Amino acid sequence: PTIEEAAEFCRDFKPTVFVAIGGGSVMDSAKAIMVKYENPEANLYRILGFGDLGLRKKMKFLIAIPTTSGTGSEVTPNAMLTITTRDPPQKLAISHSELVPDIAVLHTDFVKDMPPFLTMATGLDTLAHSAGAYVSTWGGPLNDALNIAAIKETLKYLPRAYKYGAKDLEAREKMLMATVIAGMGFGNTRVGIDHGLGHSMGKVFKMHHGFCVGLFLPYTVAYTSKISDRWKDLCPVFGVESKGKERKALLTELLQAIKDFIHSIDGAVCVKEVKNPSISKEEYMAKIDLLVKYAETDAVDLLAPRWMHEETYKKIYEYAWDGRDIDF
Ligand SMILES: [Fe+2]
Repeated sequence: PTIEEAAEFCRDFKPTVFVAIGGGSVMDSAKAIMVKYENPEANLYRILGFGDLGLRKKMKFLIAIPTTSGTGSEVTPNAMLTITTRDPPQKLAISHSELVPDIAVLHTDFVKDMPPFLTMATGLDTLAHSAGAYVSTWGGPLNDALNIAAIKETLKYLPRAYKYGAKDLEAREKMLMATVIAGMGFGNTRVGIDHGLGHSMGKVFKMHHGFCVGLFLPYTVAYTSKISDRWKDLCPVFGVESKGKERKALLTELLQAIKDFIHSIDGAVCVKEVKNPSISKEEYMAKIDLLVKYAETDAVDLLAPRWMHEETYKKIYEYAWDGRDIDF
């Protein structure tokens, strides 16, 4: 059912509690259904943090129980929806403090049986949330601490969770927490441009959200490095020794460390490497204008610290084909 159909059902059934058990799309749908159930007049295309949504009048609690470790939706004010009337479907970002779930239940029983690909892709989402938000310059000391903590935990436990799955419950538990820490870190700031780029890629080529935003993370760090030195704080976290190194060499080393990590869990850092679906260069280049069009109209990049526009999106997508270094 669509959001509207589910909300219509709720208006008859009159629930007072929503329990959203699932990954990002389930929790995000619950948020949007709650909006349309409680406030049928609300325009989902215009929910970007302003004004009063008037929720929690019919509903007492929104309870979120994540079955993946990546979205952070269980603690964030954000929801990613899909506009299915567009072809290919397009992502729609909404964000409002009234969308933060009242209760989040984190238990390894709900995540332990994730297959390896889902563990990797959702874990890369956590990494992109925290690292992308960190370099996007919106952070203050509190969010910085959250994002750095989330990156550290992800680097430590995601490879274990990916490799051992249900056999390593400690890694599963740590990734549940890392995701929540990242959720609070980026939920209070902004995600990086990896998300605008990744949303568009995910919809146009039917690829997993986390896998896509992970792919674009190195480009985000490189692109924002031209206006800020915040990337330097990531060096010790990724085990890159800064002492005595020139800026350019250090940045190259950090980017390599990020790419090495992504490769270590079988993620991709350029489109050419993507195996499923396998995308030919011709097909990819032919769709770049559509990728740019969707990314450009994605609200997540509205407040990007370094301005993004048609040309820069296009260049990043072109460079991402074979992983060329950002030189602009
Ligand atoms: Fe994400």
